[in-house]
Amino acid sequence: MLKIRNVIYIILVTLLMVSLAFSVYFIMKTLQYTSTVDTKTATDEPSYHFVLISEEVGNPYWDEVKAGAKKAGKAFGAAVEFKGPAQSDKELHAEAVEAAIAAKVDGIIVQGLDKQLLKPVINQAIQQGIPVITVDGDVPKSRRIAYVGTNNFQAGFQAGQTLIKATNGSAQVGIVTGGLASSSQKQRIKGFRAALEKQSGMTIIAVESSHISRIQAAERTYKIFKEHPDVTALFGTSALDGQGMAAVVGLLDKTNEVSILAFDALQETLDLINKGSIDATIAQQPYQMGYKSVNLMVDVINGRQVPEMNYTKTKVIRAQDLPLNRPSMQKGRERP
Ligand code: BGC
Repeated sequence: MLKIRNVIYIILVTLLMVSLAFSVYFIMKTLQYTSTVDTKTATDEPSYHFVLISEEVGNPYWDEVKAGAKKAGKAFGAAVEFKGPAQSDKELHAEAVEAAIAAKVDGIIVQGLDKQLLKPVINQAIQQGIPVITVDGDVPKSRRIAYVGTNNFQAGFQAGQTLIKATNGSAQVGIVTGGLASSSQKQRIKGFRAALEKQSGMTIIAVESSHISRIQAAERTYKIFKEHPDVTALFGTSALDGQGMAAVVGLLDKTNEVSILAFDALQETLDLINKGSIDATIAQQPYQMGYKSVNLMVDVINGRQVPEMNYTKTKVIRAQDLPLNRPSMQKGRERP
């Protein structure tokens, strides 16, 4: 009798242990599942809301800035909204900063376009506790925390040296610039003039504005040729100017006589360099500008010290630097 009781006792204890083990296993599983879900929601939910304001939305140059900013937003947990006028307009651009202040965003990244219009709104944002970083162009006299982008004076100087080389130091130069009020464009022209000052054979005979539009760049180029038929070189200071210039020079059948220096490395510009329609371009790093500005903004919000000036590099691209490796065409004119 005692034996039977013992066996029943052992069976009961074993059953109890097995059911306990099962319960522990399922409780662990549930806990694990809950914690996976929790971590996922935590990382997917952006911690900050930034706005990036550019001169023009939908412009291919700014699309590259946007791609870099998006990537950094994902990496650092920030939702980045992209704002700006549909077509370059400095007043609407400054108003977009005011709208971002009213929306109480966590940080404003803004192209330093028109210094005078932007200085008061940038200072207003800072006063209301919203950090501001300028990108592509700077507003150095404002209270913005940092600048990310090209050293535009240096890039203009580099452009001047490149054109001197391409023309053997002798040219009548027409400039088409993105905008006469744009801080980056003004700095580029200043640097370009500084480089040309050292070369007596180089003269700037016209400066026209394209409002960063390819079509207006073409129109302005045509105007330059009409007013100054002796133009032998062109410098386009914003991303689509060189493309507009190449179209007109091609139509006028002057590709072999006129040197074109462009800005930025958009695919169409590189294709035109490969075809021999554009001599060279000054490539900026728009993707890097977008990435870095978001990265720095997260640092600022977390109380980390950031450098004030964050220059991204530029480089000269000619046909021989491209994969197709088409040698740069020496233009037809005989040069000393
Ligand atoms: C400039 C930008 C400008 C863009 C227009 C770039 O070269 O850095 O300021 O908005 O061209 O396409």
